[in-house]
Amino acid sequence: MATTRRFDVRDTALAPEGLGRIEWADRQMPVLAAIRERFETEQPLQGYRVSACLHVTSETANLMRTLQAGGADLVLCASNPLSTQDDVAAALVEEYGISVFAIKGEDNDTYYQHIEAAVDHKPQLTMDDGADVIGVLHSARREQLGDVIAGTEETTTGVIRLKALERDGALGFPVIAVNEAKTKHLFDNRYGTGQSTIDGIIRATNLLLAGHTIVIAGYGWCGRGVALRAKGMGAHVVVTEVDPLRALEAVMDGYQVLPMAGAAEIGDVFVTATGDKSVITREHMERMKDGAILANTGHFNVEIEIPALRSLAVETRTVRPLLEEFRLEDGRSLFLIADGRLVNLAAAEGHPAHVMDMSFANQALCAEYAVENAAKLEPKVYDVPREIDDEIARLKLETMGVEIDRLTEEQAKYLASWDEGT
Ligand SMILES: NC(=O)c1ccc[n+]([C@@H]2O[C@H](COP(=O)([O-])OP(=O)(O)OC[C@H]3O[C@@H](n4cnc5c(N)ncnc54)[C@H](O)[C@@H]3O)[C@@H](O)[C@H]2O)c1
Repeated sequence: MATTRRFDVRDTALAPEGLGRIEWADRQMPVLAAIRERFETEQPLQGYRVSACLHVTSETANLMRTLQAGGADLVLCASNPLSTQDDVAAALVEEYGISVFAIKGEDNDTYYQHIEAAVDHKPQLTMDDGADVIGVLHSARREQLGDVIAGTEETTTGVIRLKALERDGALGFPVIAVNEAKTKHLFDNRYGTGQSTIDGIIRATNLLLAGHTIVIAGYGWCGRGVALRAKGMGAHVVVTEVDPLRALEAVMDGYQVLPMAGAAEIGDVFVTATGDKSVITREHMERMKDGAILANTGHFNVEIEIPALRSLAVETRTVRPLLEEFRLEDGRSLFLIADGRLVNLAAAEGHPAHVMDMSFANQALCAEYAVENAAKLEPKVYDVPREIDDEIARLKLETMGVEIDRLTEEQAKYLASWDEGT
């Protein structure tokens, strides 16, 4: 069913492999599949132009199929130069006739040209992971702001950027912060990032975590997940934080908490998960042990000061795919995974489909909600409506065959009253 569409992917001949992976992921995304089936009948997005800027993975492909089933006219570009699965991009073009602009390993210029291509689609709905499409619409393409009904945002860093835009009174249309749904960050950021970050580090290095010291910067949703899984694999986990509450939580969860300057001296593996910049600096690198491995799982590759690492090095070489050695003047070597890009997506396959099922169910239902409620929404950052969150949790439990108790009428009354104490 290939149609002649605009696209830029590595090689359309990769489509059969991509199709296999998309279908495999689909088996673990039953909530999204149920929404797709309803969308096919109800066509809630009929004729709407949607520009999506997401990691181009097999799970995203199933979201694209769902939006397409709902009638959307779609363009997809990558939200990171290293996270694209080229075979999946090919299958979306060849098998589903969707315009895709994404090539794994594309340079910065191509990355931004691809975002421009998505903006050229004149979106009425935007779907971002890191707010790059919204960023272009609010800078170089302000004349298009009026066309956009609403946007959705997938990740913590994107939500932070959009809230800054909102605070400045500069947000041009309503955006729903999908990341803030409980059925997103409690599962995707924690269990998804937790497992897949460890997966990426192991694929890139084949390191045995047991007995090694892993330093995790940031004890937010992602950091907690990485710490939990690293601990389970026998690593000694050290956490660094700037927020006293989160640091206290890490202490009570049984981890050693140190400032980065102290952690730098004892870590074998470092993972940044903060959404902040310059978390690992030149001073920290100067204190690290020979052989220390550096990885980032936060959205942008600014958490580790990579220019500092490059300037410290007297020699660099790639020792394994996506693992670069930096030999320093004093003879020590530090190793950086995937140029400091999201390690779980660059060196592994991103979050497993089982959690992306919920994240992308949120995306699909929020797109429908935005269209239905366009007249009521103002240019603000909105949380995902509680009913959508609850419905996704209910559907997920149902598809997992898990039953739960229901409140009796008497219990509901008791919980709602202030005077029915004893
Ligand atoms: N790899 C992935 O697939 C994936 C998935 C979801 C989110 N993310 C990204 O990961 C990052 C973290 O997301 P989150 O949901 O865990 O955010 P979060 O806000 O829950 O946690 C971030 C934590 O980092 C801490 N922090 C900030 N600056 C710090 C510093 N200099 N040193 C130590 N700690 C610091 C904050 O206090 C906070 O506790 C974001 O960039 C987000 O977009 C990545």
